[in-house]
Parts: sequence; structure tokens; C-alpha cells
Amino acid sequence: MAKLTLEHISYRYKKADADVLKDVSCQFEEGEMAAIIGPSGSGKTTLLSILAGLDEPGAGAIDLDGKNVLSMDRDLWRRREVSVIFQSFQLFPMLTVLENVTFPMELNGVPKKEAKEHALRYLELVGIAREKSRRFPSHLSGGEQQRVAIARSLASGAKILLADEPTGNLDGENTKNIISIFMRLAHELGYCVIVVTHDTEIAELSDAVWQMSDGKLLKQGA
Ligand SMILES: Nc1ncnc2c1ncn2[C@@H]1O[C@H](COP(=O)(O)OP(=O)(O)OP(=O)(O)O)[C@@H](O)[C@H]1O
Ligand SMILES: [Mg+2]
Repeated sequence: MAKLTLEHISYRYKKADADVLKDVSCQFEEGEMAAIIGPSGSGKTTLLSILAGLDEPGAGAIDLDGKNVLSMDRDLWRRREVSVIFQSFQLFPMLTVLENVTFPMELNGVPKKEAKEHALRYLELVGIAREKSRRFPSHLSGGEQQRVAIARSLASGAKILLADEPTGNLDGENTKNIISIFMRLAHELGYCVIVVTHDTEIAELSDAVWQMSDGKLLKQGA
């Protein structure tokens, strides 16, 4: 199984006078769901944005199976290796459900027909009925929209899924649904799922729990 390793990562926002991430070292594996927990402002989203290739750390190394991630083309990393799921779903409102999912594949050069077939499979995997794929996102429930967002992130082909409070806008029932999709993706389909969460249930069901506290990250139970 592939391993994503961070070593001695630090990060400071421009004009800030202190590091937000302080010597962070951690490891995530394909086939596992990991939770990152910790108080507001402790640096969880910042860490995720570095993993997502949206920001570059001031110091440290990121390695994916012996490949130096920080020397890779960041656009390729963002498009092919990692994919991000947000609390607010961030679907394209002017595209149908189906088009939201085919879009990243078309960006990666997958022919339209093939993209559509894959998209319908991903939508089925997350439990979105075929007839709903023609709707616009605003005509779905919040839980359904989040499942479409997960299908879209699978469509990029990325094996590393990063989720920032993915159940923050959902009720208990929908939260359970999303957790079981993530667990299935990790345990049955070999994805590396990394979830920032306040939800104790997600943390309890995760294979590894990392606690962020004032920019420092520690593995629970280690
Ligand atoms: N663009 C920015 N410029 C300067 N400082 C920032 C910026 N974004 C975040 N910060 C600061 O960095 C620290 C970590 O923020 P971050 O968003 O990573 O926290 P978090 O753990 O995700 O919190 P929450 O649980 O509230 O989402 C906070 O002190 C925050 O104020
Ligand atoms: Mg955050």
C-alpha cells in the first residue's frame, strides 16, 4: 500500500509572526481512513491545503512512495493524486449532477462517453439514483450534494481523498452515510482517506487519529 509521509513540515502565513504548522511529521496509508481532530484555529485546514498542493510549506518534506511530492508539478499533483471535499460541497451550480462528475475527467482528457459511464458508476457507488443525475445540485438534499461531491472527487482518479469537515452541514443520518462511504472507499477500494473532523464518531471509526494542537500534530494512542 502506498504511503504518504510528511516530515518536519512548517508553515507560516505571509505577514504572520508565528508558524501555524510547527514541525509536523505524520504518515497516511492507502487502505486507511485517518481523522485529524483538534480545536478551531489549531492548523487543520492549513495542513490539508498543504497536502492538497494549494500551498507550499516553508520547510520539510512530503513523500509519496519514495517520490518527492514538493518537487512534482503542483498542477499534476492537484489534478491526479489528491482530491478535496469541503464542508460546503462546492459543486458547480450551473452544471447538472452528472456534468459535475464528468468535468474532472474531461479535464484529464477522458472522452465524453467514457466519462459519462464512469460518472454514473461513481454516482451509483455513493448511492445517487440515475434519474437524479440530470438535476442541478440545488435540487438535491445536502446529504445528496455531499455524496455527489465525493463522486466528483473519485472521478479525478486520485487515490488520496482529503475532506475538511465533510459532515459539518449534515444531520446524523447523512453523516453516517458519508462515514460508511469513506470507510468503504478506504477499506474495500484502497483509497487513502484523510478527514478533518469535529465528529467523534468519525474519529472513533478511523484507523488512525491525529490530534492537532497549536500547530503540532500527535498521533493518538501512539
Ligand atoms: N489566510 C490566512 N492568513 C493568515 N492567517 C491565517 C490564514 N488562514 C488561517 N490563518 C490562521 O492560521 C491558524 C490555523 O488556521 P486553520 O484554518 O488551519 O485552523 P483550523 O484548525 O482548520 O480551524 P477550524 O477548526 O476553525 O476550521 C489560525 O490561527 C488562523 O487564524
Ligand atoms: Mg478548518
